Amino acid sequence: MAGLHGLLFTKLTLPPVSAIEKKTILITGANTGLGREAARHALSLGAGTIIMGVRTLSKGEEAKANIEATTGCADKSKVLVWLIDLESFNSVQEFAARAQKYVSDGGRLDMAIMNAGIASLQYATTSNGWERGIQVNVLSTTLLSLSLLPLLLHTRDQDPSARPHLALLTSDIHKSIKFPERSSSDSILSLLNGQEQWKKSQDIGGATERYGVTKLMDLFVTMQIAELVPHDSFGEPLVIVNAVAPGFCKSDLLTRENAPWILKLVQALFARTVENGSKTLLHAVTQGAESHGKWLENQAITDPGTIVTSDEAAAVRNKLWVEITSVLRDIDPKLQTQF
Ligand SMILES: NC(=O)c1ccc[n+]([C@@H]2O[C@H](COP(=O)([O-])OP(=O)(O)OC[C@H]3O[C@@H](n4cnc5c(N)ncnc54)[C@H](OP(=O)(O)O)[C@@H]3O)[C@@H](O)[C@H]2O)c1
Repeated sequence: MAGLHGLLFTKLTLPPVSAIEKKTILITGANTGLGREAARHALSLGAGTIIMGVRTLSKGEEAKANIEATTGCADKSKVLVWLIDLESFNSVQEFAARAQKYVSDGGRLDMAIMNAGIASLQYATTSNGWERGIQVNVLSTTLLSLSLLPLLLHTRDQDPSARPHLALLTSDIHKSIKFPERSSSDSILSLLNGQEQWKKSQDIGGATERYGVTKLMDLFVTMQIAELVPHDSFGEPLVIVNAVAPGFCKSDLLTRENAPWILKLVQALFARTVENGSKTLLHAVTQGAESHGKWLENQAITDPGTIVTSDEAAAVRNKLWVEITSVLRDIDPKLQTQF
């Protein structure tokens, strides 16, 4: 009930212009839904540059034109459309290399929003051999986050007044998952990757179980990356890393999958518009050090529940982190996991 109350009665706000103007903001999955609306708000608030990460360039260019038209932005160089497909580690690495070059060439990176995600409701694997939801929402999102962290740190190093942020998109759905795989003494990721276990966990936890598991892992990843960030002489993190839950929103996340009708009905009745829900993304990347490693819901630091905060959860988080970074190091042996 608390969730529905917050969804219906929280008045979401946009950050002040001063928090966004002149900033370079990177948003993945920015061609539609929450990502596109966050980009639109950011441009209205005077962002210096917006890097839209999209998996189909034509859709990205269409979104760019739409955002420029509605915000009256005449400077066509402010919004950059870059290709990234999180179903391919290769594509994520190419995108990260492009960001690296952008920063090496004198660009800055103030805010990175890991928004691209899927709610995979049918079992399917990528060409890299991972179940789609695990690769897109967890492995590729972590690979990109770790690849961008040095660029955010560099921006802070070059400009001590900068307050760079990294935000990962999560959900409140993790509170209702069963996640029996977490007690496995073998690799949790490998277990989750198999089709047999997919079927079992759907039977135990329902249609949204696996989506919730990937979003819980995004929250774990946020907490782990937050622990890696170095601090300044005042004890403040040099990059603020947090997790944001936008609340149930009327995007294509469910309609592009074969979602149960009841979910679509609840969405139609109670969900936020993406224009409104996307304000939470900009809120997350303008918060202070108190939000570092924390979960933001309804634009406030919120207790994510015992599945995240218990001692057992900490052990699962640490185990998963070892597993995730081990997969990623095989993909990119030079990937930095200490800063
Ligand atoms: N909507 C909600 O109620 C809700 C609630 C909690 C959390 N979230 C989270 O919010 C984020 C945004 O979701 P949304 O609601 O805005 O959904 P959406 O409208 O479906 O947008 C998802 C975005 O992610 C992109 N994407 C999907 N797979 C990708 C891939 N392999 N590579 C690159 N981009 C990819 C999509 O690109 P294409 O258009 O090309 O497919 C699209 O731009 C997700 O992480 C989601 O889990 C949403």
